[in-house]
Amino acid sequence: MKDKQFLMIPGPTPVPERALLAMARHPLGHRSSEFSAIIQEVYQDLKWLFQTGEDVFIYTSSGTGAMEAAIFNLVNPGDKVLSLVIGNFSERWAKIAGMRGAEVEKINFDWGQAVDPDILRERLDQDINKEIKFVTLIHNETSTGVTNDVQTLAKIIREHGALSIVDGVTSIGAIPVKTDEWGIDVIVSGSQKGFMIPPGLAFLTCSPKAWKVYENCKNPSFYFNFGAYKKSVAENTTPYTPNVSLIVALRESLNMMKEEGLDGIYCRHAKLARMMRAGIRSMGLKLFVEDDNTASSVITAIYPPEGISVPDIRKTLNKDYDIVVANGQAKLKDKIFRMGHLGYVSERDVITALGALEASLAKLGYDAKKQAVSI
Ligand SMILES: Cc1ncc(COP(=O)(O)O)c(C=O)c1O
Repeated sequence: MKDKQFLMIPGPTPVPERALLAMARHPLGHRSSEFSAIIQEVYQDLKWLFQTGEDVFIYTSSGTGAMEAAIFNLVNPGDKVLSLVIGNFSERWAKIAGMRGAEVEKINFDWGQAVDPDILRERLDQDINKEIKFVTLIHNETSTGVTNDVQTLAKIIREHGALSIVDGVTSIGAIPVKTDEWGIDVIVSGSQKGFMIPPGLAFLTCSPKAWKVYENCKNPSFYFNFGAYKKSVAENTTPYTPNVSLIVALRESLNMMKEEGLDGIYCRHAKLARMMRAGIRSMGLKLFVEDDNTASSVITAIYPPEGISVPDIRKTLNKDYDIVVANGQAKLKDKIFRMGHLGYVSERDVITALGALEASLAKLGYDAKKQAVSI
């Protein structure tokens, strides 16, 4: 039976039937009153999900589009941007800012580690002339499975006076984010993650302080223009033709999220990660992130046992159990594999995946039970 595939990559994530069925309609006209009523509801619910009183813009793009929107509406060429890099995705901010013509300084942390707040504080304390205008950072680094303490980091950045620009692509809807309370200036996300719908929408919200910076941006983006999107939110519409089918699905997935409640969603993800980590350890396998305090709730990175390759593990899981897991990225390619537990994922899914992993490893010559006894 070939169509029973289960995605355990960190996006796209599984989509609940309710959202799939909502999409299985003829597309609505994006200027119709029916669609306007739907997007009004979605805009309200997004504020709840992002825990903000500010507007949340919906872009028809993948998450990277919202990252580009943030940089191209705020940063002027020559502006100084400090990028906190802990992996492949946090590095992306530095690349985008570089293409904007910003003067980018990176602080690189070892992959597998979170940002050390003391190092950030020390660097910002040295910036007595306040040359650093922006600090880019990531909440959940999907390439390594590490979650930064964004609350603490945003506070340090706020005290310095720079704007914090945060990648919340794999945290919103899964890991606690309190945009206003934590004083985050800009945070972005993407639909194929905690939002439980397919790829194609990106989200961005910005603080009043960031809005003032946007107003001084000399050459803001056209397609992603903050001003155009803000005006459209006020009018319960979008500036250009949006992916109407995804927005209809999003209304349904947001309803599901409200039924579960934010605490329910966050606790479920935290529990799934604990289960996954305990299961991996009990097989005698090594986690890429040993520290339970910085380990992600939505993705677990795992070293293969000695003598067994990552491609073979992924191939066996896919071929024999219809479970798709991710390879490592960039310098971690073929060194680790990553199992996502993000979005529409239940305890049963994690138990099944762990069982399938154990069986796959057995087929490849690794006896997890024997290893477990010996550790
Ligand atoms: C943390 C993070 N940021 C950014 C992205 C890029 O998003 P997209 O592929 O939707 O452009 C991803 C995608 O996996 C991600 O996990």
